[in-house]
Amino acid sequence: MQHLEALVRAVPGFPRPGVVFRDVTPLLADAGAFARCIDALAEPWLGEGVRAVCGIESRGFIFGAALAQKLNAGFVPLRKPGKLPPPVVGVDYALEYGHDRLEVRADALQPGERALLVDDVLATGGTLAAAQALLDRLGVALVGAGVVIELADLQGRARWHGAAPLHALLRY
Ligand code: PRP
Ligand code: ADE
Repeated sequence: MQHLEALVRAVPGFPRPGVVFRDVTPLLADAGAFARCIDALAEPWLGEGVRAVCGIESRGFIFGAALAQKLNAGFVPLRKPGKLPPPVVGVDYALEYGHDRLEVRADALQPGERALLVDDVLATGGTLAAAQALLDRLGVALVGAGVVIELADLQGRARWHGAAPLHALLRY
């Protein structure tokens, strides 16, 4: 994991003062590191029967799509408002730096379907909690969640509810 950590760039003051932005684009640009990152994200879920990987727009799409391939699962995008055609199901949520909304195609996931949530960063936990609420509303069987980076001081993990595990590769 040390090699992956070295490829995450810390950018103080972006996108606003007081925030240290964790930029994963150097990691993505390194073929070997990106492959190892996907392998590590997949490892806890091998043999868990994951049928759908739900990636959160937009950086969660990058990791989620690659992870879906690795787990031989489908990929379901959880999108920002107004991007998916109707019918959609949506939830509103607060961010470390703003507000947003997540939507999913209403019939993208079946009740009881074994799904995994994926994102790049867990910060305040608002996004992941919103995604969890969205999947709960659809009656999905949530297997767990995987993130590349957990910003532990923001205590986002506290907003993750239920018994399904939440795994993070790197913690700051
Ligand atoms: C970032 C990140 C997570 C979310 C985490 O997304 O990719 O989805 O913030 O923050 P939280 O734990 O405080 O909710 P952002 O909305 O910046 O979108 P992007 O992926 O399109 O850059
Ligand atoms: N999303 C929310 N907070 C973030 C941060 N500090 N760095 C990168 N992505 C984020």
